[in-house]
Amino acid sequence: MKGIILAGGSGSRLAPSTDGINKHLLPVYDKPMVYYPLSVLMLGGMREIMIVSTPEDRPRFEKLLGDGSELGITLDYREQTDPNGIPEALTISEDFIAGDDVALILADNIFYGQGFTTILRNAIKNHRHATVFGYRVKDPKRFGVVEFDHHQKVISLEEKPEDPKSDFAVTGLYIYDHQAVRMAKKLKYSNRGELEITDLNKNYLKKGQLDVELLGRGFAWMDAGTHESLFEAAEFVKITQQRQGFKLACLEEIAYYLGYISKEALYRKGKSMEKNDYGQYLMEIAERKHTEQYWDSIDHHPMLGLVEND
Ligand code: G1P
Repeated sequence: MKGIILAGGSGSRLAPSTDGINKHLLPVYDKPMVYYPLSVLMLGGMREIMIVSTPEDRPRFEKLLGDGSELGITLDYREQTDPNGIPEALTISEDFIAGDDVALILADNIFYGQGFTTILRNAIKNHRHATVFGYRVKDPKRFGVVEFDHHQKVISLEEKPEDPKSDFAVTGLYIYDHQAVRMAKKLKYSNRGELEITDLNKNYLKKGQLDVELLGRGFAWMDAGTHESLFEAAEFVKITQQRQGFKLACLEEIAYYLGYISKEALYRKGKSMEKNDYGQYLMEIAERKHTEQYWDSIDHHPMLGLVEND
């Protein structure tokens, strides 16, 4: 399965902070926003990942993340010239997807919760045609909304409805089979002048090919697209990290525990930032200063027991 991160858009909701820089490069506490969706794809097991951004911002993403080799993955870059909507990320990446299955994630979406990696890996393993993730929110009108029956069978989908049929938002993480690019090409522009991901999902639904996975109340899902939500996301990350001493979306840590990079490479990366707490954290992991017996329990492994470490 390939991975795509959509990091385009004008970011107008975060102006003036985004007048000089792409929204997804802004920090969410101690790391750029794009780290969070990239961590999701890495935890999902994807190693070939495309980052779609604007022509202006592409070099900045390339400077930040390079070809991915420091993380033991392959990163590629494409441009979305105009903010034509989420499904365009699929058509722009057609040759990269090359008929494979694909997980698409929006670069301002932050997922966090015990067992998320397992849910994600299971959803990927068991997915039929298209899978979306539902999450209960207080303000469903702001999102795509999914309605489903007692058996979690999807009944309807609506984009930013005036009168939502449920409280479940569709998060910005989508898993598709090989039909996605062909179906995305057939979409028509909506009233707000965009190709809508909800329309693509509706087409899967019409064919009886859409599944929903629910993320329960123990999960945190945030989109960091407004001043308020960006600040809240940063606060959440800060508090969670400070309490447990584990970092969220620490790409180098994930790469290390997935066995993609060596202890030495992890240490070197940490050393290059040794004056700050991010660098020190990496060095500490490489030096194994954390409580090892805690990690010996497979259930409590930082990467949720998916991999055996060295
Ligand atoms: C987009 C999608 C919406 C989804 C949301 C998740 O909304 O159109 O269906 O619920 O992402 O972040 P937008 O961010 O474009 O308002």
